Amino acid sequence: MNIETELKKRASEIESRLYSLVPDIKGGQQRVLDAMRYSLEAGGKRLRPILFMEFYRLAGGTDREEALRMACALEMIHTYSLIHDDLPCMDDDDMRRGKPSCHKAFDYATALLAGDGLLNLAFEIMTSSADPNGMKTAAYVSKMSGVLGMIGGQTIDVCKNGCLSDLDELHKMVAMKTGALIKAACVGGCIFAGGDEQLISRSERYAENVGLAFQIRDDLLDAIGDEKLLGKKIGSDSKLSKTTFYTELGQTECERRINELTDAALFECDSFNNSDFIRQLTCWLAGRII
Ligand code: IPE
Ligand code: IPE
Ligand code: MG
Ligand code: MG
Ligand code: MG
Repeated sequence: MNIETELKKRASEIESRLYSLVPDIKGGQQRVLDAMRYSLEAGGKRLRPILFMEFYRLAGGTDREEALRMACALEMIHTYSLIHDDLPCMDDDDMRRGKPSCHKAFDYATALLAGDGLLNLAFEIMTSSADPNGMKTAAYVSKMSGVLGMIGGQTIDVCKNGCLSDLDELHKMVAMKTGALIKAACVGGCIFAGGDEQLISRSERYAENVGLAFQIRDDLLDAIGDEKLLGKKIGSDSKLSKTTFYTELGQTECERRINELTDAALFECDSFNNSDFIRQLTCWLAGRII
């Protein structure tokens, strides 16, 4: 399997479903719907929905159509988090996914509302699932996206204005701001498939390791990455004097930790049947340049 070809194939399956889930309404709210579509259609790796679908499959799920809706809802939550993350009151970034950020292409108020709109649409989709595991999955995703998860982490990130007192605090912040949505994808996929406790614990540990490695890589790429490939400006963290894994540890130690976390994640894959894709994805993430 060529992992990049496979990722493109999986992303495009998600995208065709994703775009069809935004209501096509002509009316006064046209502008916010345009902004929601703009940010969703700008691209991105679609990592979280891809992970959701893969963990659903690993946990024995078979109703791919229902799972795709849930996976797309998760991508909507992630996209909303990016729209808000780029706002001037947060990271103040002008580029996202290779295009002007939502508030640049539209305006602040519309970007704020587009984020809210995506979050609400995601919960409408999840809570109206025909699958009996839909509500349980929605509750878990809600918790991971909220104050105990992504929103909590983003709060620490902005309140501390990038000045976290030690590495331990940085770990906790990252586990929430980035790790929690990755957990929502992996564990959420298992919950939706009705996976057993053992599998859920394994996927939790997998996601914790991958989530941390993912943000260390993000911090590293913000310092030494290629803007064109990333689709966002580099140097955003240093502009805001943020404490990141890169500022605290430097490139070599960041890379060493990414590899260590990747090995720990791969260890959790040992018990999965048919784990070729998840293993290759995990290794690809460790060295990603996009
Ligand atoms: C960026 O996430 C935000 C972080 C949590 C580091 P991604 O790197 O997954 O962004 P897209 O979805 O590919 O644009
Ligand atoms: C953001 O982390 C994590 C989110 C919850 C959106 P960053 O602020 O480092 O993400 P980028 O680098 O802007 O994508
Ligand atoms: Mg941020
Ligand atoms: Mg940011
Ligand atoms: Mg970043």
